[in-house]
Amino acid sequence: MSFVNIKKQYIAIGMLLFVVLFFFNSKPAFQCQITPEVTTYLPTIYGITPTYARLAQKADLTRLSQTLMLVKNFHWIVIEDSEKKTKLVENFLKESTLKYTHLNVKTNSSKHSTVMDINICLFKTDTFNTSWYCASGVEQRNLALDWLRKHLKQSEDKRGVVYFMDDDNTYSLKVFDEMRKINKVGVWPVGIVGGMRVEMPLVKDGKVSGYNAVWKPFRPFPIDMAGFAINATLFLEHPNAMFSRKVQSGFQESEILKYFTKTEDLEPLAENCTKVLVWHTRTQKPSIISPSKLKHPIPPDSHIEV
Ligand code: UGA
Ligand code: MN
Repeated sequence: MSFVNIKKQYIAIGMLLFVVLFFFNSKPAFQCQITPEVTTYLPTIYGITPTYARLAQKADLTRLSQTLMLVKNFHWIVIEDSEKKTKLVENFLKESTLKYTHLNVKTNSSKHSTVMDINICLFKTDTFNTSWYCASGVEQRNLALDWLRKHLKQSEDKRGVVYFMDDDNTYSLKVFDEMRKINKVGVWPVGIVGGMRVEMPLVKDGKVSGYNAVWKPFRPFPIDMAGFAINATLFLEHPNAMFSRKVQSGFQESEILKYFTKTEDLEPLAENCTKVLVWHTRTQKPSIISPSKLKHPIPPDSHIEV
């Protein structure tokens, strides 16, 4: 008899243990389902990158895209400066595994270079040639902004961050974490630009009080394109905000920022603008020896994409 009783007790204790274990086991599962929604919301970053055909283009795009693969919730808007989309960029984006939108618009050089207005374009002399230099990326970024506005109007979630990214800059992953903190417009230092080691907003008591720029310091916002990002919904609130061909070189950043903010309202990021998380690197133009100048003929390589 006692043996039967003991067995019943064991069964009861066993069942109790099972219920207790089940309860404790299921608790973390609950937490896993609930907390991420609350704590890990990441606004989409829309990276806007104009690009144009040149020998180092695929190399530059490869370096940039492989950084972007490590950024969560990122949408890359790539705009080719060309009449037609090229196979190189089309295939490159398809193979990239990134979320992207591929657009194209050709810069109408006759519109600005024949004007040769010293206020708008610069007469540039380097070791090899002299030429008129006008701001790049204007039409391309404006096309991307048109696309973005249409996209956001159709989207349920209109939150996001807009970042204008040259295809040859160097981006730390940390700069993307910083820009997700933005309310309106966030700013941070840019390394190796404007003739300086670092060009940056100056911060006093947590507010931007000025800038250290030495190149055209009279610009309303003397910062590089890589040094700020904008809350995407502001582009819906300011439907006319865009870049312009009518402003002098170096003023494109000021041209877009003037629609959204004033110096005193800028949000200093990257530890109060004390950290460099992006560098305005520029890829050197490769110099290639013409095959016709070689003493010994080389096998043809034009069928290989570089
Ligand atoms: C600086 C700024 O960092 C750029 O954001 C700004 O657009 C540029 O000056 C300017 O105002 O011209 P910089 O290194 O001199 O940068 O310019 P690039 O990197 O040569 O060009 C900026 C972007 O436009 C790049 O993504 C590039 O691929 C693209 N681009 C350049 C074109 O789409 N078409 C061109 O003819 C040249
Ligand atoms: Mn560049």
